[in-house]
Amino acid sequence: MSRVPFSLAALDHVVLRVPDMKKALAFYSDILGAKVERRVENFGLVQLRAGDSIIDLVDVGAAWLKAEGARPFTPEVRNVDHICIRVDPFDEAAIERHLVMNRLEIIERGQRYGAQGNGPSVYVRDPFGTVVELKGPATPIESDEPVIKTERLTLRPVRVSDAASLLPTFMDGEAMRYWSHAPISSLRDMEGIIARNLPPQNREEGSFAITLGDDRAIGCVNFYNERDAMSGMGYILERAAWGKGYVAEAVRGALIHGFTRLKLHRIWLEIDPRNAASIRIAEKCGFMREGFARKSFFLSGEYQDSVFYAMLYEDWITRADVGVPSGR
Ligand SMILES: CC(C)(COP(=O)(O)OP(=O)(O)OC[C@H]1O[C@@H](n2cnc3c(N)ncnc32)[C@H](O)[C@@H]1OP(=O)(O)O)[C@@H](O)C(=O)NCCC(=O)NCCS
Repeated sequence: MSRVPFSLAALDHVVLRVPDMKKALAFYSDILGAKVERRVENFGLVQLRAGDSIIDLVDVGAAWLKAEGARPFTPEVRNVDHICIRVDPFDEAAIERHLVMNRLEIIERGQRYGAQGNGPSVYVRDPFGTVVELKGPATPIESDEPVIKTERLTLRPVRVSDAASLLPTFMDGEAMRYWSHAPISSLRDMEGIIARNLPPQNREEGSFAITLGDDRAIGCVNFYNERDAMSGMGYILERAAWGKGYVAEAVRGALIHGFTRLKLHRIWLEIDPRNAASIRIAEKCGFMREGFARKSFFLSGEYQDSVFYAMLYEDWITRADVGVPSGR
């Protein structure tokens, strides 16, 4: 038998298939006191906090589960979907080698949400068919440099050396039309803007370059003016990349970062009411329109109106499409 390449750190979560969510919540939440942490409506999933662990309740009536052939729960049909154990270290290749040498197959793998946030997982079956999820540490929560990965994008901390890539966008009158300052014209200005967005002016881990995974910054998304766990968010993208849904994707990733790693309570956007694309992003990412301020922003010798959008942690945590659920 090969040497086990990790040690078991903790039971991360259990996933229970329940035939009646109301009844299940009455028991686990009302009677046992487990707090509802997150709902993923598309998956009929409710995640309850139980100390350091999570209890996932998955509605067996949910359309996706029915499509997988789940049968209604009866005493003969098991209601435990799988158990999840945190392992340490999580070296996927070493784990796979170890499992293969022990004639076990990884039946699924991917980033999954667990008690400490999103992190890598592999799934195996025990000899009786029960699925066991072996879970690594949450990322980016436990990694040193925060890197936010979305389906198509990698957001990594912006650096002063990104100035050359970002400068064309900050010189572009069309891209800068509704930005908070006029277009700039020199690399030195660009470097100054990046430096002013970095600590100590703004929070560490608050300014991200948007990349397509090749490290070139095609835009940025950043948190600014943070105080008392409330922060503004801004975003900009080079014109050649507009209209592909990149910024909405980046904002969704940044929201996960803002509400988990930065532990923000409120994230707000200040948008020029004529900036229809930005308003659309706010709305499709689930921000709530809160107000309109007349002639409240002084730019290029004129007062401009602003429309304000915001998202609270409790709005975000209860939204259906946040992250990847662990209740497969
Ligand atoms: C605003 C900006 C970030 C959008 O980036 P993007 O990656 O093209 O945005 P997305 O593709 O994710 O989403 C844009 C949405 O607005 C819609 N849209 C674009 N232009 C629009 C317009 N003139 N009127 C109405 N809707 C518009 C798009 O159709 C899309 O919605 P959809 O997904 O429902 O089709 C980008 O245009 C930009 O960098 N602008 C300059 C900087 C800026 O204004 N930043 C915002 C400051 S608050």
